[in-house]
Amino acid sequence: MRGDRALRLHLLLLIWLAATDKNPHCSAARDDPKAIELMDAINDGYQLRLTNWNKAIMNDTHSNLKLERILWSSKPPRFQFTIFTQLTVNRLPTLFNMCTTYTGPMSAAIFLSLVQQPVPYRLQEDQSFNSEEPSLALERLSAPNMVLVDEAVQQVQDFHDKVESNPDICQLDVMLFYELYDSEQARLLYPVNYLRNYARLQVRTRLLAMIDVDMYVSRTLSEEMAQEGRVAHYENLCADRRATILPAFEPTRPGSKGRMMAMKLSKVSKSQLESMHGRNKEAIQFKLRVFPRGHTPTNYVRWFSEAQTYKVSYKRFYEPWFITCDEIMPWYDVNFRGYGMNKIVLIASLNYYNYTFWVHPDAWLVHSPHLDTDVRKLVAREASDVNKHNAKLPPNALYRKLTLLFGKAKRGMMRGTYDPRVDPRMMAVYDKVSWLRSPPKLVGTPTAESVFI
Ligand SMILES: *[C@@H]1O[C@H](CO)[C@@H](O)[C@H](O)[C@H]1NC(C)=O
Ligand SMILES: *[C@@H]1O[C@H](CO)[C@@H](O)[C@H](O)[C@H]1NC(C)=O
Repeated sequence: MRGDRALRLHLLLLIWLAATDKNPHCSAARDDPKAIELMDAINDGYQLRLTNWNKAIMNDTHSNLKLERILWSSKPPRFQFTIFTQLTVNRLPTLFNMCTTYTGPMSAAIFLSLVQQPVPYRLQEDQSFNSEEPSLALERLSAPNMVLVDEAVQQVQDFHDKVESNPDICQLDVMLFYELYDSEQARLLYPVNYLRNYARLQVRTRLLAMIDVDMYVSRTLSEEMAQEGRVAHYENLCADRRATILPAFEPTRPGSKGRMMAMKLSKVSKSQLESMHGRNKEAIQFKLRVFPRGHTPTNYVRWFSEAQTYKVSYKRFYEPWFITCDEIMPWYDVNFRGYGMNKIVLIASLNYYNYTFWVHPDAWLVHSPHLDTDVRKLVAREASDVNKHNAKLPPNALYRKLTLLFGKAKRGMMRGTYDPRVDPRMMAVYDKVSWLRSPPKLVGTPTAESVFI
């Protein structure tokens, strides 16, 4: 009986969706065959299954991403350098702003999280009650979740249309993923590094940079990349494993005033930026007040006085954004989910893979301020419980997991055995799609222990 009702509801919903779909055919017309091939390869082997907090944290079960839609830009790329990023559907306005400050190719992995109840029990053949834990496998999305997926597809489609219709902004390729969770808590496990890796897989140029979606890109970077020979110049640096660092700033004011200031700071010249830089002025080093180690190695005092690229050394917890090539770009370790350490470990791995760090003298990023996410608040609360109150966290606490993962990565780099964890479904895509560039094959050199102290 229950099954029949569910099926009827499902059919009704399908009819409703078909009736309310504004333009059911126009989107299909410009689907890129390569994009569709990539989507099919990514979804190959996908099974509807719920992600559970304890299993993800304590047993390292993988996130289970479904690629619902892929849309590629048909605008010609302004130059052969791509910024890739990830975001949740509600951050589309932020992506739009970023896409106005940077006018070249972009690849974005957009994410929708859904919560669904686990199947409470399974009736066995003999109808006896099976008291095992609830099953995480599912037959179908619930009706409300189907509506949420459809709404997200429509939003992303409309967004992409808007970006496509504007010749002056970025050329945007997007993937829309969703993941199903069995609880509101599990929903906090935002698969940040899975999404970064998928967005990178989608990049169609050799030169690339991962830049988080809340960063505005200085106008000078797009202007430079559009000049003859500049992309080739950066590609040549890849033979020497030189990462080009983009210094990051933030407005001194929060909220909407800060966001307006951030936009302005991305458009001024370097000398104007210098006159606006300082604790009592408009802009300071990103996270200077809360986490100076993240960017201090960039050496902001020197940066303002340099007209040339200069070399800096790696320091523990350095987390700059940088430009490199696909063939030497390491994977983001997917075990870092939710919030914390996810970029720090990647930069430590650059050091492990013999990269050197060089600061771009005339391009920069500006953080656009926003409210903290719930998972960031959770990690901050747990960190303060441990560090200020000596609390012992339970084995399924996210902050505890972060410290374990960081310790493991650090030991791997010291021993020369570091290997970031990746999504096996994503790696399998390389065997299925013939035109993809091969995945990177990187060999590290043991990191001296002193680097981590
Ligand atoms: C993790 O795996 C072990 C061994 O398979 C199992 O005994 C344990 O219950 C699992 N833990 C969780 C939280 O699922
Ligand atoms: C990395 O650097 C170390 C130390 O300078 C050197 O011994 C090693 O050969 C380098 N490895 C690669 C792959 O370049």
